[in-house]
Amino acid sequence: MDRVNNNVSRTPAAPPTAVERLRADPGLVVLEGFHALKHALRFGAAVEVAVTSDPDGVERLAAELAPDIAGRLRELVVVQPATTLRELVPRMPHTRIVAVARRPTADPVAALGARPDAPVVLLEDPRHLGNVGAVVRVAAAAGAAGVLTTGERDPWHPAALRGSAGLHFALPVARVAGELPSLGDRPLVALTPEGDELVPGSVPRTAVLAFGTERHGLSDALLARADARLRLRMRPGVSSLNLATAVAAALYAGVAP
Ligand SMILES: C[S@@+](CC[C@H](N)C(=O)[O-])C[C@H]1O[C@@H](n2cnc3c(N)ncnc32)[C@H](O)[C@@H]1O
Repeated sequence: MDRVNNNVSRTPAAPPTAVERLRADPGLVVLEGFHALKHALRFGAAVEVAVTSDPDGVERLAAELAPDIAGRLRELVVVQPATTLRELVPRMPHTRIVAVARRPTADPVAALGARPDAPVVLLEDPRHLGNVGAVVRVAAAAGAAGVLTTGERDPWHPAALRGSAGLHFALPVARVAGELPSLGDRPLVALTPEGDELVPGSVPRTAVLAFGTERHGLSDALLARADARLRLRMRPGVSSLNLATAVAAALYAGVAP
């Protein structure tokens, strides 16, 4: 395996005004830390720039963990003082690298149609952005076709991106504004602690799997629209699983391989 030795360019500092402009642009997102940047590059993100105050550390990480993207990283990285990185992110990532990428446009209807052989995760009005990020991460890992959300929260919020480790770029992630669109041939499967017990492997791969908001669960409207209502078995006395945990269990245990 090639080591990436002393190859990260030490381009002179970009003016802080450019950094501020990037941060303010709604068409751009900030990737915090090496792992987020690694995943984003692997899944085709259009990364504009990567800024580090620790070029030697980045070289080591690229060589050890991601030789597949080391060359691309080398082209992108500019070295800046730590103070400049702190202007981009609320907390300095321990890997001391921050990048800016173009936010892809994701259309919910296109996401439902793109890969009909893979399940879609639908989160009804999720409140906790860390949960949204964790859901995107597990949905990407499990090979889901997309993650859709309803409600006001932006699933591309920096806190959600932090939770997904950059895996927002691995599948369409989109907010449904207004009414849920037609699901076409996809059955709607509602996950609810009040449903019928989920039999492992019984959920069709074409399903839209719907999960409710953290405090109140799924709405009556969505439960009424569902073709099936399923529960993940729990020990008596436990009222529910965490949202992202429920998504993980349903995708890995519920969906037919
Ligand atoms: C934190 S739970 C919400 C709890 C809420 N009090 C309820 O009764 O649904 C968030 C979502 O995770 C899913 N969930 C959690 N535990 C589940 C279980 N045992 N079976 C099926 N879905 C579950 C449901 O979609 C739920 O709406």
